Amino acid sequence: MTTRYLTGITTTGTLHLGNYVGALRPAIAASRQPGVESFFFMADYHGLIKCDDPARIERSTQQIAATWLAAGLDPERVVLYRQSDLPEIPELTWLLTCVTAKGQMNRAHAYKAAVDANVAAGEDADAGVTMGLYSYPILMAADILLFNPHFVPVGKDQVQHIEMARDVAQRFNHTYGGEFFRLPEAQTEAEMELLPGLDGRKMSKSYDNVVPLFEGGERALREAIARIVTDSKLPGEPKQPEGTTLVALHDAFASAPQRAAIRAELRAGLGWGDAKQRLFDVVNAEIGPMRARYDTLMADPAQMETILQAGAARARREATPLLARLREAVGLRRFQPLAAAAPQTQQARAAKPTFKQYREADGRFYFKLLDGQGALLLQSAPFDQGREAGACVARLKAGAPLADAPLTLAEGVTTAQVEAALQALADA
Ligand code: TRP
Repeated sequence: MTTRYLTGITTTGTLHLGNYVGALRPAIAASRQPGVESFFFMADYHGLIKCDDPARIERSTQQIAATWLAAGLDPERVVLYRQSDLPEIPELTWLLTCVTAKGQMNRAHAYKAAVDANVAAGEDADAGVTMGLYSYPILMAADILLFNPHFVPVGKDQVQHIEMARDVAQRFNHTYGGEFFRLPEAQTEAEMELLPGLDGRKMSKSYDNVVPLFEGGERALREAIARIVTDSKLPGEPKQPEGTTLVALHDAFASAPQRAAIRAELRAGLGWGDAKQRLFDVVNAEIGPMRARYDTLMADPAQMETILQAGAARARREATPLLARLREAVGLRRFQPLAAAAPQTQQARAAKPTFKQYREADGRFYFKLLDGQGALLLQSAPFDQGREAGACVARLKAGAPLADAPLTLAEGVTTAQVEAALQALADA
């Protein structure tokens, strides 16, 4: 049984050390565990709710994609995509909107906070509130429910949204009498809330106390660390390490012996300046190599686009069958099956990719995938049993990751092309 995780990051800014320690690093580590399937995406539709600067949305999406990849996300294991590349998400959003109680949305934290601020300022309660902000939790429910994940790793501020997704899922299942949606569970990392910012409060854009992750390079990291607030004890004076921002940040990157050492040395009088140098060294040892990859990725957005398109194709192969069931369930139906309405022409049939299974002179079983024109896309390794080859084909058709199947791509063929062909098969 595989466990599925799904999480998104809103594309309105760049990521900081707190995002890395609290969200990216644990999510990437989890994605490498056996039996885990991960769906990570850039929530750019959510970005539009908070930001109407197109250049910023675009740039942030690029930065977040590059950050995931630079931090070690393996796109063969993880389905990485842009929310707006999946038309199934807004489609599902509408189906869910129609079973969501308005009163429930009135209680959403983000909306309530906006209303409270308006009332406090003597404004109309809904001043400046868009329908996007109001419906934010429904879009988020669609992101989640489309993939039926078991767990959704998020910060504490998002837990209410996961609960709303569960409610909406339940209401849909109940209204249309089926187990369409699994009820997802929020997963909050204790660590996620812990990393303090420069002034000791939680590290957050809104407090302007962040340590940037990659942007601004080594220099920005050094400058941010220099701004960490400490007490005014001089070098040589004993210092209390526990509870300090500096030590908390150091702990997030250091080994156990390094953690013990910095505590002992601070107690023995290590200067804050030297301690900051230690902090810089441990942080940079981990993220320095990632920053180099980040810069390379940012300089080659086309390469990232290929990865995102392959991710979107994989995600859509998962999403389209569920959405077809949902449309059927709610009554969005054709008058007659498509195939009967419009018999396929010879040409349309020929344009579909096909799997071919066969046995070689060596007595073993193989399959290959041909594109609509009959060109070879991939070739399997040999199987001892015909039914093993058949089962592998079935798994691929059902959306299993290519990386998990024993096969090689034909020369010059990219993963993205194969994903697109599999999507075309699923659509057909
Ligand atoms: N709302 C989330 C945030 O601001 C981002 C997000 C959008 C998300 N869709 C999601 C997180 C689905 C988890 C699952 O942090």
